[in-house]
Amino acid sequence: MRLQGTMKINNSGHLEIGGCDIVDLARSYGTPLQVIDEDLLRRNCREYRQAFSLAGQADLVFYASKALLVKAIASIIREEGLCLDVVSGGELFIALQAGFPPQRIVFHGNNKSPSEMEFALVSGVGRIVIDNYFELETLERLAEANGWRPPVLLRVAPGIEAHSHEYIRTGQTDSKFGFTLANGDIFRAVQAALNAAHLDLRGLHCHIGSQILELDAFRHTAAVMIELLQSLRVRYGWTAAELDLGGGLGVYYTTGDEPPAIAHYAAAVRESVEQSCRKHDYPRPRILVEPGRSVISPPGTTIYTIGAIKDIPGIRKYVSVDGGMNDNPRPALYQAQYEGLLANKAGQPPQEVVAVSGRCCESGDMLIWDLHTPLMTSGDLLAISCTGAYTYSMSSNYNCLPRPAMVLACDGHADLIVGRETYDDLVKHHQTPERLAAKGAVHV
Ligand code: LLP
Repeated sequence: MRLQGTMKINNSGHLEIGGCDIVDLARSYGTPLQVIDEDLLRRNCREYRQAFSLAGQADLVFYASKALLVKAIASIIREEGLCLDVVSGGELFIALQAGFPPQRIVFHGNNKSPSEMEFALVSGVGRIVIDNYFELETLERLAEANGWRPPVLLRVAPGIEAHSHEYIRTGQTDSKFGFTLANGDIFRAVQAALNAAHLDLRGLHCHIGSQILELDAFRHTAAVMIELLQSLRVRYGWTAAELDLGGGLGVYYTTGDEPPAIAHYAAAVRESVEQSCRKHDYPRPRILVEPGRSVISPPGTTIYTIGAIKDIPGIRKYVSVDGGMNDNPRPALYQAQYEGLLANKAGQPPQEVVAVSGRCCESGDMLIWDLHTPLMTSGDLLAISCTGAYTYSMSSNYNCLPRPAMVLACDGHADLIVGRETYDDLVKHHQTPERLAAKGAVHV
């Protein structure tokens, strides 16, 4: 496993994150445990902020909270001066609870309900990204009824296919997201938004996909979007103040992943925008980006305890952990690959190859197929790295497994930021009608 951020192997031969011995953290908080390296998270935020504010241009970075949003993370994002991308009333609620300034929030989604749109308007979010005509009409109606004129962007499906898993590509024409560029739909949408007296059309938005490792896809997108803005200016005399290019920068999960540095990504995006603006003599819009994974994934590590071990000689050795697709559905959903390390034997050389299975009742609940590791025994602690993004936020209670706890580790100190769910949490919303209430022993 590649050691990232503050990870190191300490004198006891244990994995350490944020100066905290993982064996101690597992003992104190139990497993599965999500550990967030606060220093690395803050460093990523600062890199983004600096890279997008170079040369006096105040471009904006919105952390995509769908990757991971809990109150403490929102507070760190706020402290580091980033803005926030939310995609539901629930994400907006958590952000506001964490004291996130609403004007620094952009509200996304491809099917915002009227009540969510109203919540966003009443809260005073800084921008709403309109995905479709249903939203455009609803928002105009709500704004008119309340005498508001919210700043909005329109989402474009620019017809760009970035190389990533089919389910995490979003920019192509055959997509549920946004107004289509290829058939001219975006032109009609811009006209409708310009005609809407209660919408303040600030610009356009697009997002071409996630875990993108090539800068050319981002350069190309920026060029396509500026060209589109130029056509819109010619047709409607409208000039965009802002261009939101979404998120998508990839991270290192396993050998072969070579993500560009944040600074290189920023430079590529900005240069491409500026070059296209020069080409069309278009005034440079303020650039907005929405990174999620590249901010929070590397700072996250999940710690599991090894339980059952099943060796099928000549075939495979399965080692089961006390979590799985319930806390990290990515391998089952996208064939995502991860690296792991035995946290309590971190200094020992690999001696065997094992398959790490989850504890859910599905054969597909596998976390890593071929982990090279020192000899494993039940009770060992397995750390899986780069799990900060799209794990906890996509977790479930499948098999009625409570969600893990989460700690923030920094300078030798750990703070609990999400408590472990309990069995009581599992039945919190269950209701048993009186007529079904237990009336005595059941005889079999
Ligand atoms: N902006 C928009 C409009 C998005 O839809 C997304 C991600 C982002 C920003 C952030 O993208 P990022 O920088 O994290 O790549 N569950 C999948 C990823 C889905 C991404 C959805 N949209 C996974 O686990 O790989």
